Amino acid sequence: DQSRQIAQTLAEFCLSKDQLLEVKKRMRTEIQNGLGKKTHDTATVKMLPTFVRSTPDGSENGDFLALDLGGTNFRVLLVKIRSGKRRTVEMHNKIYAIPIEVMQGTGEELFDHIVHCISDFLDYMGMKNARLPLGFTFSFPCKQTRLDAGILVNWTKGFKATDCEGEDVVELLREGIKRKEEFDLDVVAVVNDTVGTMMTCAYEEPSCEVGLIAGTGSNACYMEEMRNIETVDGDQGRMCVNMEWGAFGDNGCLDDIRTQYDRAVDENSLNEGKQRFEKMVSGMYLGEIVRNILIDLTKRGFLFRGQISETLKTRGIFETKFLSQIESDRLALLQVRAILQQLGLDSTCDDSIIVKEVCGTVSRRAAQICGAGMAAVVDKIRENRGLDHLDITVGVDGTLYKLHPHFSRIMHQTVKELAPKCDVTFLLSEDGSGKGAALITAVGCRQREQEQ
Ligand code: BG6
Ligand code: GLC
Repeated sequence: DQSRQIAQTLAEFCLSKDQLLEVKKRMRTEIQNGLGKKTHDTATVKMLPTFVRSTPDGSENGDFLALDLGGTNFRVLLVKIRSGKRRTVEMHNKIYAIPIEVMQGTGEELFDHIVHCISDFLDYMGMKNARLPLGFTFSFPCKQTRLDAGILVNWTKGFKATDCEGEDVVELLREGIKRKEEFDLDVVAVVNDTVGTMMTCAYEEPSCEVGLIAGTGSNACYMEEMRNIETVDGDQGRMCVNMEWGAFGDNGCLDDIRTQYDRAVDENSLNEGKQRFEKMVSGMYLGEIVRNILIDLTKRGFLFRGQISETLKTRGIFETKFLSQIESDRLALLQVRAILQQLGLDSTCDDSIIVKEVCGTVSRRAAQICGAGMAAVVDKIRENRGLDHLDITVGVDGTLYKLHPHFSRIMHQTVKELAPKCDVTFLLSEDGSGKGAALITAVGCRQREQEQ
């Protein structure tokens, strides 16, 4: 009967503890491949060195500009850091829109737009003539050989601007600034959002040595031992590694748990075959998985009186904030129906029950496999340090983590179950990753002075 068939469809998304342990194990294998000299070139989880060699120690000082590109919001920030006994950080920021035609236009248009926003911000702050050092949070995979150079490996999420892949984004930014001929800036660091988040949290809590983003995209970073990073010379100390774990599974290693709906989401995306793990766990795609399941259930006559509306055919309708509302326990079914109505979907009471169940199933799997990935990371750090038990803090950010009513709890629970030898504290980043980018820039400036 109908409810059995629906249950069967959703059962594919329910993973057992053994399956989750298997995900953890495979993540560990991919981590190893990304770090290894011989395996790195073909690895899917790229484990990119960031040239950030320590977390903040409180001695960071100065005024910095920061850009924060790649999440829900594009921001320009002024960050004033004061060291000493009473350390303070003062921030001013402004959010700017990046129109879709700019995200998917030419690289020159994208960087001209970014520089235009910086110019507006400097006017707004009344500081056009200050030549400040700048940290660039750029939340995409970049190959770095220095703190201030990052070659974009490939775009992810909703970006597709031409002539950027394979280029150094710091150079692209500098060229944009030159074209504008209005002001001069010193670009000191390019920073992934995971790294910025880790640094932001580590400024308050020194045990924070991991960064996690569960937002539009999904990714993590952590402090790895230099001796294990075979792609960088030197064996002393640690370096933060941007894992780019969104690409986990791109070699097919997760195919046994991917469903037909995951494949449909992938096929309809801007980057088919890429970021397969991200497409199962991050905010930009969860709604799409839900939508594909709903279409299938409707086709089979179990939902919406068998009528597939134009709305249901529209990509991207179920944004994270809607999924979060639908799954909120405080919401009566009548309110779920009101939300669906708002989206343009006419539902019966039975429909709304099914929709809520579908959302819950998809987000639960997301939280669980995200937790399995994190379990692999903290256990690796524990083994690196030869410990039976590890206490560690993970700095987290992202709309999915912050807005969703269940994601964070299920993810924490999963980490606890899959990495029982680690005590993991999750610390929400209150200031985004711009603050972390400024802290990294401060260290970068100091290093430069020492070199001179
Ligand atoms: C914040 C950053 O740390 O979190 C953003 O400042 C980042 O740039 C974001 O990408 C992730 O969240 P979301 O949900 O906006 O993608
Ligand atoms: C995507 C990007 C990655 C970023 C993540 C979270 O996976 O490739 O660099 O950290 O999204 O924003």
